[in-house]
Amino acid sequence: MRRARRVIIDTDPGLDDAVAILFALSCGRFEIVGLTTVAGNIGIETTTRNAGRLLALMGRADVPVVAGASAPLRRGGIEERAIHGDDGLGGVMLPAPQASPLEGAAAWMAKVLTEGAAHSIDVLALGPLTNIARLVLDHPEAAGRIGRLIVMGGAIDEPGNVGPRSEFNLACDPEAADIVLRAGLDTTLIPLDVTRKVRAGRDWLSALRASGGRAAGTCADLIEAYFASSGGRESRPLHDPCVMLFALQPALFAIDTRDVSVELGAGADAGALLTGRQDGVALRVALRVDAAGALRLLADGLR
Ligand code: RIB
Ligand code: CA
Repeated sequence: MRRARRVIIDTDPGLDDAVAILFALSCGRFEIVGLTTVAGNIGIETTTRNAGRLLALMGRADVPVVAGASAPLRRGGIEERAIHGDDGLGGVMLPAPQASPLEGAAAWMAKVLTEGAAHSIDVLALGPLTNIARLVLDHPEAAGRIGRLIVMGGAIDEPGNVGPRSEFNLACDPEAADIVLRAGLDTTLIPLDVTRKVRAGRDWLSALRASGGRAAGTCADLIEAYFASSGGRESRPLHDPCVMLFALQPALFAIDTRDVSVELGAGADAGALLTGRQDGVALRVALRVDAAGALRLLADGLR
């Protein structure tokens, strides 16, 4: 059995974040150093409480929750209550958090990265990149000690889900995305081009629920809620879990390099990834995925 990867999960739970976190907690392949929370799908109090609720469900109050940015660096946020509900988890009942959250995600990440061996901790980014931008701005040496930075965000050849080209995590905080993607870290982007292909259908959901276990059952409830908020779609895209699946089994994804820059204007496509501009930065992006293999790995890890 390969040694567990040490990871920090930066997150705005959020239904798909919650599935990703439960997978990371139950698959036995990650040593979760902590959950840092950010405002995104819903406000910081709710994302922070939800992180604590997921840990309480899995009996992992030993994992610290560290509250981070309550707003993007320079803009107002874009919440997604329509999808995730006012409680951020589609009304799925979870236990109350068993420990109080810490404050100051960027400073906490800097401390942990400085104390650990260089490049021994990966950061799995599931929400707007505000906390990680603060880490790069305020603690650049510590940021340079990150192992892999794996980001769910952006759209390359795929339409956006906020503007015509912009994806939610990058559209929430375009300035943060620009800072992080230009920081020279070992970054891989997991964009809508692949996450929209990893979809939970009704049959997969029934098999997941039948597999038993607390993580699988709760994920089935969370995905049912995800279905309910989407007006009867046939399947739902599992965006954030793709970050964990790539971290564990990169061979499921085909990675290309694209010269990208982030649209920093005020229009509908703020946060969109633009290619072929003079100021572009070369970035590894996942553009194809073995979706069936990804769904198998996800279901296996939740059992
Ligand atoms: O665009 C998908 C991303 O936006 C996911 O991280 C989802 O949780 C929402 O935050
Ligand atoms: Ca998210």
